[in-house]
Amino acid sequence: MTIVIAVDGTAASGKGTLAKKLAAHFGFAHLDSGALYRLVALAVQEQGGDPAAEPDALRAAHALDLTRAGEPAIRSDLIGKLASQVSAHPSVRAALLQFQRDFAAKPLGGSPGAVIDGRDIGTVVCPRAAAKLFVDAKPAVRAHRRWLELKAMGIARDESALRREIEARDRADRDRPVSPMVPAEDADLLDTSDLDIDAAFAAALALVTPKVEAALKARPRG
Ligand code: CDP
Repeated sequence: MTIVIAVDGTAASGKGTLAKKLAAHFGFAHLDSGALYRLVALAVQEQGGDPAAEPDALRAAHALDLTRAGEPAIRSDLIGKLASQVSAHPSVRAALLQFQRDFAAKPLGGSPGAVIDGRDIGTVVCPRAAAKLFVDAKPAVRAHRRWLELKAMGIARDESALRREIEARDRADRDRPVSPMVPAEDADLLDTSDLDIDAAFAAALALVTPKVEAALKARPRG
């Protein structure tokens, strides 16, 4: 039995950064599930398909090329928006579900646990995760963080337009019928609006450490 930490949350809430730091801290493997949906979106775009058309998106999901997960192209806001469209198709979610569950059951490198970040990890992918966080921050704060992130990548964007896009994506993710973005009942909520990265990480650690330690103790030996 591996130990899973589910880190769900809104767009640009800092869940990816937290998930990476938690994985490094506990020596667990990290999976950015959003990257899977972004890769599907990129493939649909490259094939000239329509992300809103389920067969186009499903074809791309079946031909997922994980070797491209590190490409900066998947990080653009346009791909984020298209990822939200492809992720609303039930068959696309089903196609990616097994990959995520396999990762949770057998994390890379044989590590004893996995940290997976996304929208439905604590509710659908790993409902029995040892620890669950739902990360959020005020839209203005998230828009500013995304603006800084893009600026560092040499991309100049209007901050208020970014805020509108982030809010629209949250709405779409929250309102979709399959796997809507909703905190699991047993998730700890973490609002990072007033926290820098170090403070947010300290708060996340305080929430998950007792749960991870209890799960490690409960593991069968041998
Ligand atoms: O980093 P950011 O929050 O901007 O986005 P992301 O985590 O890379 O996810 C991009 C999009 O993929 C989201 O807006 C969701 O629509 C979708 N997604 C999802 O439906 N389920 C997940 N487990 C992860 C992402």
